[in-house]
Order: sequence, then C-alpha cells, then structure tokens
Amino acid sequence: MRRACITGGAGFIGSNLADRLLADGSEVVVVDDFRTGRRAFLGDAAEHPHFRLVEGDVLSPGILEDAFAGCDWVFHLQANADVRHGLERPRLDLEQNTIATSKVLEAMRQTGVSNIVFSSTGSVYGEPELFPTPEDAPFPLQTSLYGASKLAGEGLIAAYATGFAITGVICRFVSILGERYTHGHVIDFYRSLKDDPREITVLGDGKQEKSYLYVQDCIEAILTAVARHEGQGGAHVYNLGTDETVIVDESLALITGRLGCTPAVRHTGGVRGWTGDSPLIRLDTSKIRSLGWAPKLTIGLAIEKTVDWLEANEHVWRPQVQP
Ligand SMILES: NC(=O)c1ccc[n+]([C@@H]2O[C@H](COP(=O)([O-])OP(=O)(O)OC[C@H]3O[C@@H](n4cnc5c(N)ncnc54)[C@H](O)[C@@H]3O)[C@@H](O)[C@H]2O)c1
Repeated sequence: MRRACITGGAGFIGSNLADRLLADGSEVVVVDDFRTGRRAFLGDAAEHPHFRLVEGDVLSPGILEDAFAGCDWVFHLQANADVRHGLERPRLDLEQNTIATSKVLEAMRQTGVSNIVFSSTGSVYGEPELFPTPEDAPFPLQTSLYGASKLAGEGLIAAYATGFAITGVICRFVSILGERYTHGHVIDFYRSLKDDPREITVLGDGKQEKSYLYVQDCIEAILTAVARHEGQGGAHVYNLGTDETVIVDESLALITGRLGCTPAVRHTGGVRGWTGDSPLIRLDTSKIRSLGWAPKLTIGLAIEKTVDWLEANEHVWRPQVQP
C-alpha cells in the first residue's frame, strides 16, 4: 500500500490503524472533524513525515476529494458509532453512516481510488437465529438504526464494486476493546464505578452474551483481508471477532476485579439492555481465520488491558471541566 486515507482516523480504531500503517511504511492521510476523535490520539502520527491531516466534516463539499487525492486505499471508519441512542436521533445514522458512505464512494470515483475497507458491524445481523452467525446468514431483520444504516452502506459498496469495478472489503466487527477505547459498555461501567464504587446499575438482566475483539487483533484482521483482495474487484464480507463470548455480568466482574471494588449490582431487567441490544452475539469467524489470521488476545485479557489503559488516561473518561 502506497498511500491510504483513513476517514475517522482520529477515533479509537482509526488512530490505532494510522499508527500501524505508518509503521508499515505507508503514507497516511486522516480526515476527521474531531467530533468524537481526539487530537491526542494522533500525537505520534502527527510527528511522522508521511502523515497528513485533513480537518473537516466528511459531508462538507471538497473535503473527501482533497483527502483522497493520490490514495490507493480508503479505510472508511468515520461514522456515528453510537448504537444505543439511535432512536433518539433517527437522522444521525442515516446522515453519518449511509449518506456519508455514499459521499465516500462518489469521492473515490472522482479521485480514482479503487479500494475501500468499510467498518461495518455485527449489529447488521439483528437478532439472528443461527449461531455462530456466518457472513451468509439468511438476510437479517434489522433491530437498530445503526445496524440498518451500516447494512445500507454495505449495499452501496457492493453496488459500486459491481458498477465501477472497485474492490470493497467489508468488515463486520464485534465490539472492539483496547488502547484509545472511548465508548461502549466497558467505559460506561468504568465511569460509573469511578463515580461510586459501592453500587452499579446494569441495563437488562446482565445475561446478555457478547463478543469482543482487541483493537490490534482487529487491525491485523483488516490488513489480512486487504492483502488478500487488493485490486481483485468485487465486495468481500468478513466477520471480525473472537470465537469466545462473555456474559455482561462476567465482564463487569472482570472490571471490578481489576479495580479492586465489590459494588452492589442492580439489574434493570429484561433480556435486552435497550431496544436493539442483541441478547446474544457470536459471529462465525472461520472465513477470516481461513486467511491465516487468529486473535492474539482473549476477551478477558482485552477487557483488562482496556481498564488498565483507562486507569492511565483519565483525560479520556473524566468529563472535562470548562475553565
Ligand atoms: N468500536 C467498536 O466497538 C465498533 C464496532 C463495530 C463497528 N465499529 C465501526 O468502526 C468505526 C470506527 O469506530 P470507533 O470506535 O473508532 O469510533 P470513533 O467514534 O472513535 O471514531 C469515529 C471517528 O469519526 C469521526 N467523525 C465522525 N463523524 C464525522 C464527520 N461527519 N466528519 C469527519 N469526521 C467524523 C470522529 O471524530 C471519530 O474520530 C465506525 O465506523 C464504527 O461504526 C466500531
């Protein structure tokens, strides 16, 4: 890879990817407006001679065309990555996930970039009937606006791959953990325990069964799929996750164990924490494993690593007090 653009490259996954691609010898362009991303996450990258930042909203005219010029890959990680609050702001997922993806594809066409990685999600499976859930599971019913907006993005990429001979690598991630983690239930629990280590509220019955993947394992898997399909044309879908799952109450126990507290746990009840929360996520990862990839970290180790990183990076989770 000569030059790659990462949309959303100041975010959790994108900034880790930027560091990795620079270390591998690629030129990296990040486009981001820092709405959830952090300048600090690009601290090392910004020092690198092969790094360029295009600061702005991907929906603003000209931003993507500027960022994509001369690139051979786009890693499209920009999105509204918040799954839980979709019903409160129905336009957000449509605009930031589906329409933004269509803008990315059009800008690729204008600038002649022919390869894209898309950060999709296991949420596209809604509440599947088949476990572990393979990429070709029966067409799923959608249960969240986030999942629906990502599935629409996948559809656009597949159509551009057919119509305009681009290569699309579509990665359906489980929840990702690790350094620079800023959103999701581990940080929600962590913040709550920092506020009050004596008690904690868990949304749902705490029996929801989830799967997680360490961010460096996620990046390795993406790059494995990229190496396999570069320039090949077509759309290629991969589940990215571990074969393990963890119950929400078990992940809470790992966090409290790491923090050395024993809170009273209150469950709000019900098999789902919120509308669209899937009670069981277990993806079939045999397709990405068939390319020789395997995760290095277990879920337990990934949770502990994330807690340790949050402990060392208070600026990420402590609400900023305005002077
Ligand atoms: N983190 C996970 O567990 C997870 C799981 C499944 C899928 N994903 C997907 O992976 C991608 C990256 O997720 P993340 O966890 O790093 O999220 P993140 O919120 O940390 O990163 C998203 C980045 O996009 C930027 N951004 C958002 N809207 C923008 C806009 N209109 N213009 C310019 N920049 C904009 C943000 O500032 C941020 O830096 C997302 O597409 C997300 O949906 C993440």
